[in-house]
Amino acid sequence: MRLKIAVLAGDGIGPEVTREAVNILKAVAELGSHDFTFHEGLIGGIAITTHGSPLPTATLDMALESDAVLLGAVGDNKFNALPPDKRPEAGLLQIRQALGGYANLRPSIAYKPLAGSSPLRPEVTEGTDMLFVRELLGGLYFGAPRWWNRETGESINTMRYTKAEVTRVARVAFELARGRRKKVTSVDKANVLEVSQLWRDTVTEVGKEYPDVTLEHQLVDSMAMHIMNTPRNFDVVLTENLFGDILSDEAGVITGSLGMLPSATIGGAVNLYEPVHGSAPDIAGQGKANPLGAILTAAMVLRHSANLEADATAVEQAVRKVLDAGYRTADIARGSSQVVSTQEMGKLVHQALVEDIDRRQSMHAV
Ligand code: IPM
Ligand code: MN
Repeated sequence: MRLKIAVLAGDGIGPEVTREAVNILKAVAELGSHDFTFHEGLIGGIAITTHGSPLPTATLDMALESDAVLLGAVGDNKFNALPPDKRPEAGLLQIRQALGGYANLRPSIAYKPLAGSSPLRPEVTEGTDMLFVRELLGGLYFGAPRWWNRETGESINTMRYTKAEVTRVARVAFELARGRRKKVTSVDKANVLEVSQLWRDTVTEVGKEYPDVTLEHQLVDSMAMHIMNTPRNFDVVLTENLFGDILSDEAGVITGSLGMLPSATIGGAVNLYEPVHGSAPDIAGQGKANPLGAILTAAMVLRHSANLEADATAVEQAVRKVLDAGYRTADIARGSSQVVSTQEMGKLVHQALVEDIDRRQSMHAV
């Protein structure tokens, strides 16, 4: 298996968590004799500082020539006064658009050993296994017109969707539901927004192609509540861009920390992989960041870009094993847990993974 991976570590904790994710991918490549190559590029605040643009042409060209893009995080407080199109985040939005992936998959799983790490009671979170399918290229993030007129004190953003855009992301949700518990919950605000009425209508129509999958609709405000009350009721959760951004952070509470959540964006020319968390400048460079979101993102690279399902599962199992053994980064630590650094956590997962793959290979050898 050959895979050319663009590594865009970005800002804040991006580089330290991405390093651990790359180590895991290198281990899988070595153990399975795969030819993975890694090509580093700049994005976000660091790219503004060194190249004057949050997405330099060299980075974009390299990303477009890769088989997968692994991104750390973007964002730096030093650019807070700049307008949206000049900020580090603009680089992320530009690369998402250029790569063309419209379906952002964000799994949210309540790992048993982390039951005590969530402020929610274990009996509420237990058994939660949701998959957000967040539309990533439409809605308020990209709709025009958009402006802020400082003189008149007026500003506008546009929530726009076409039927075609809703249809394609809905299909991804239904297809993925088929391989899971066969339920799609579509989130909208159809009691207020025309865009949501189009959304609901279109999803219902697509749902007819999938009679084996149950479809329900939820308004986004009550969905925000249901996710906290009965998270295990949900399987695939389909949302437009901004609703998915908000609800997936909320879902981080179930897992215990936003630092646990991975994501993959599929459907475009090149898949884009990024942990859900941000650049966390307050803890950057201190070895405090949780690399598990990035490592689980690496597992998604193996699953969705390399077709190495067994290895993807092995990485996820290695993460479970390390959590079972009681190791925690600071964000998920409680009481008697053993607190380890970003790098130590990466090493522990690496060790567990190597042991598991070795065992599988020796089983095949006899
Ligand atoms: C995310 C982030 C981004 C988003 C920001 C950094 C542009 O919050 O991936 O969830 O809003 O999509
Ligand atoms: Mn977000």
